[in-house]
Amino acid sequence: MAHKTPTVPADREGVARALRVLENGGLVALPTETVYGLAARADDAEAVARLFSAKGRPSFNPLIVHVASLEQAAAFTDIERRVADWRSPHGEISLGEFATEAWGRSATLVVPLRLGAPVAREVTAGLDTIGLRLPNHPVARAVIAGAGPLAAPSANRSGFTSPTTADHVLATLDGRIDLVLDAGPTAAGVESTILKLRDDGRWAILRAGPAFNEAGAPQFLAPSAEKSRQTTIEAPGQLARHYSPGKPVRLNAHAREDGEYLIGFGAVTGDATLSATGDVVEAARNLYARLHEAARSDNPRIAVAPVPEQGVGIAINDRLRRAATP
Ligand code: TXA
Ligand code: MG
Repeated sequence: MAHKTPTVPADREGVARALRVLENGGLVALPTETVYGLAARADDAEAVARLFSAKGRPSFNPLIVHVASLEQAAAFTDIERRVADWRSPHGEISLGEFATEAWGRSATLVVPLRLGAPVAREVTAGLDTIGLRLPNHPVARAVIAGAGPLAAPSANRSGFTSPTTADHVLATLDGRIDLVLDAGPTAAGVESTILKLRDDGRWAILRAGPAFNEAGAPQFLAPSAEKSRQTTIEAPGQLARHYSPGKPVRLNAHAREDGEYLIGFGAVTGDATLSATGDVVEAARNLYARLHEAARSDNPRIAVAPVPEQGVGIAINDRLRRAATP
């Protein structure tokens, strides 16, 4: 099938082309280690407006700003600020030190927005906080290093299944964006863990992501036994219906019912599987690809086998529940 939006390999030439598009206020889909993002320059109000419109995203839903260094992040928030380091064995450390560790584990940090920060108002939806992320992907880093900080939501039409390949991006955004940088499937497969710095210096989890252990806390925060279980607080964009493959989804399925495309896990074999060995990390990597395949199949309905609420399984189940919400 011919596409309207060009896809180019994420080599030097591709990155150079992406930089020209961004410089001219255009929109580029690019890989991060979690999912593909749809990027615009964070300080370009017109480009950001085009981004909201290409995605069909409500204007009240803020965007994450992606940086390539601590220095870039310091323009958006007070990186020297000392933070009470919730669940951490390290004691009082600066926000910058905490961020370095958190970003290394695919987290996004929601922190106070610095006055006069170089960011279009639309990016933060007028909030006095900003979501900051430093992606662990050489292509994302190279583009940000060249273009400056980038506002980037997941590269899908608002409400639909997130993209882990260039093809997934085109499935909902072909003709609505200027370029796709293709670097193959992403490694983690689900969106970043979102942590918000509360007024008391502690961290709240707004969205489950890759950095989760059995207790539901980010692994790197070294949970201590007496700490209560974290209850998930909603980010503005965490709508109940989200990640939709466009067909009814039945969860905790042990066998296929009439008309269903069954996505298996472990002992539950289906038309395809998240992980035949029951590995949640592999399942996270495969989640959106299986949902995209199920959406393209002839079956009118989708069923998904149970996935354990362990580690990144917490993030998988969060996404599946929203995908299943009619
Ligand atoms: O892995 C990811 O996080 C990907 C890649 C591309 O970086 N991005 C991503 O963006 O998932 P998006 O827009 O699909 O989800 C970002 C979430 C939304 O739910 C949004 O409401 C929330 O982050 N968010 C952004 N800024 C916020 C803020 N200042 N306060 C609270 N939530 C915020
Ligand atoms: Mg999204």
